[in-house]
Amino acid sequence: MRRPVFAANWKMNNGPTAARAFIAAFAARWAPRDDRSVIFFPPALAVSAVVHALGSRTDLAVGVQNIWTEDKGAFSGENSAPIAKDAGARFVLVGHSERRHVFGETNAETARKCAASARNGLTPILCVGELLTQREAGETNDVVLKQLHVGLGRLTPDIVSSMAIAYEPVWAIGTGKTATPDDAANVHAVLRHALRGVVGVASESIPILYGGSVSAANAGALLAATGVDGLLVGGASLEVESWLVICAAG
Ligand code: PGA
Repeated sequence: MRRPVFAANWKMNNGPTAARAFIAAFAARWAPRDDRSVIFFPPALAVSAVVHALGSRTDLAVGVQNIWTEDKGAFSGENSAPIAKDAGARFVLVGHSERRHVFGETNAETARKCAASARNGLTPILCVGELLTQREAGETNDVVLKQLHVGLGRLTPDIVSSMAIAYEPVWAIGTGKTATPDDAANVHAVLRHALRGVVGVASESIPILYGGSVSAANAGALLAATGVDGLLVGGASLEVESWLVICAAG
């Protein structure tokens, strides 16, 4: 049985001051639970503030929403895996749909970012998901499998079996249109089968999260869908109340 993962992707919201206040309010009402993992993905400039606000709450983890492919050098404006690690991050979102579709990130770049995370001891969470036009054209499985195989292409089996995957249909992100639990279960099954092909039985340890308009109202049903091992949440992770409800789901 995989331990469910609840990941808050704050996107470009919550600077250091708001992040500290959020963590203080959340941590005061969230008792440590060893049956699930809770991870915060603040903007990079708020990572240190979140780490400090968490203090001794080692049950709550922090990650970054993106890194660059190289470890250091002349890449103005970017953050590297060693910098993220130094700031206290343990996880990296790689290939989030906004990185792919707003900033033009390619599958090849996601592979290099997964590799950069791994060689610096950070755990990548590789995000995959199809556009509405691709879903309507019946290309969902082909799209997510290509994203998965290329994205994992530079990783050792050990790393693959210790990371996580997130399925986020692009048409469901921030739109209020959620995949049905059946839609999610179908794609999760395809991904699970593919992961078995990549690393065999070791793939059983890899959580596959669902993301896309998850809310306090639908979190329970999505988490109950077959093969959904956690939730990656944007908008509904910005309110302490809804995030508390989501983290307690299942
Ligand atoms: P949303 O975002 O929950 O606001 O749809 C999810 C995500 O982009 O990770």
